[in-house]
Amino acid sequence: MGLLGMWVNFLHQCPFGLWGGRLSFGWPFTVTPGVWCDLTVTFPSALVHQSSSSTLPPLDFRSDTVTRPDNEMRVAMSQAEVGDNVLDTDPTVRALEERAAELLSAPAALWTPSGTMANLIALNVHLKRGDRFLAPRGAHVLSNELGTAAWLAGGMPEALDWDAGPGRVSPEAVRGAADPPNRPYYALRTTVLCLENTHNAAGGTVTAPHEHARLAAAARGAGLRVHLDGARLWHASVALGVPPGALTVGVDTVSACFSKGLGAPAGSVVAGSTEFVEHARRVRQMLGGGLRQAGVLAAAGLVALDRIQELEQDHSNATALANGLTELGWDVREPATNIVLASVPDVQITLDGLGKLGILATPMSGKVRFVMHRDVSTNDVTEALHRIKTAG
Ligand SMILES: Cc1ncc(COP(=O)(O)O)c(C=O)c1O
Repeated sequence: MGLLGMWVNFLHQCPFGLWGGRLSFGWPFTVTPGVWCDLTVTFPSALVHQSSSSTLPPLDFRSDTVTRPDNEMRVAMSQAEVGDNVLDTDPTVRALEERAAELLSAPAALWTPSGTMANLIALNVHLKRGDRFLAPRGAHVLSNELGTAAWLAGGMPEALDWDAGPGRVSPEAVRGAADPPNRPYYALRTTVLCLENTHNAAGGTVTAPHEHARLAAAARGAGLRVHLDGARLWHASVALGVPPGALTVGVDTVSACFSKGLGAPAGSVVAGSTEFVEHARRVRQMLGGGLRQAGVLAAAGLVALDRIQELEQDHSNATALANGLTELGWDVREPATNIVLASVPDVQITLDGLGKLGILATPMSGKVRFVMHRDVSTNDVTEALHRIKTAG
């Protein structure tokens, strides 16, 4: 392909039209005065690592974990009744655990400082050293928890392909990956299925109640325990219009977070049987998660639970952003919840370009991820689209 052909091809692919850079076969190629396109055949790192500073007010779509507690939440935190949650109990933590357990249709729940710790505790209780556990490819426990499921819980991870749609696996895949009845003595023991709803890396995709129930039943039928990473189970329940408990049918344990889009500064729960929670409390202590007057943080969790229905706004903002980007020629999948994934020719160049517009996003699964949350408004989405359009 000649130079001109490559250039035309690039114009078709560039998500910002002519915006952003330099056609480099060794020299900068100015497209319009002051407007550049970063295109190289190999995208050398010198071009990739550019300043993303912008004088425009930042629009932060990096994650729904960036939300800060608002005044109402801070007041609730400051007034929380507290006690020593390691010595005996903290009344506000207890109240949050009881309310979360009820919402998740579990007999009991345990507060943890983070979702990572909640997942680790569950896997630690379920797994023996060297046991194999299954999880959909890209699951947070596989890719984003520093290998603690292996390192600290002793599990051998096995990623299952998304044969039932983005982020979703089929009951057949679960049965196929479980141990055969005549497993030889020297084969790995497969003991746990770890699901994730919504699936973050797949773009906040949801698993519906009937599909979830079939998966859990398949796993149990194959002798597996089931843990559900429900960091954003609230999002799934709002998107599907079902109570969170409808999405925990057949699981042994479920984790859920108060710090994903709901404004709480910290805190998750891991829920299951009362025997599980008894064991989990010991593991939490072992991991250094026995926080004393944690009621200050649990109070934020209680306010967060009052706001679950408000996640609907984040979902409609995600749809608005996806539609707007599609109209601008981006390759974007329709979001199921609050996460928008865009396929672009080069993720880092696009992130750098967005950064120059004051639009903050992150790389995820080889795509650009925009996450909606309560600290970005519908106006912010409109403004982001405006900035992209005018830059293009
Ligand atoms: C699906 C999923 N599980 C678990 C976690 C971990 O939560 P935390 O950041 O509270 O440790 C996250 C964090 O984003 C997540 O997306």
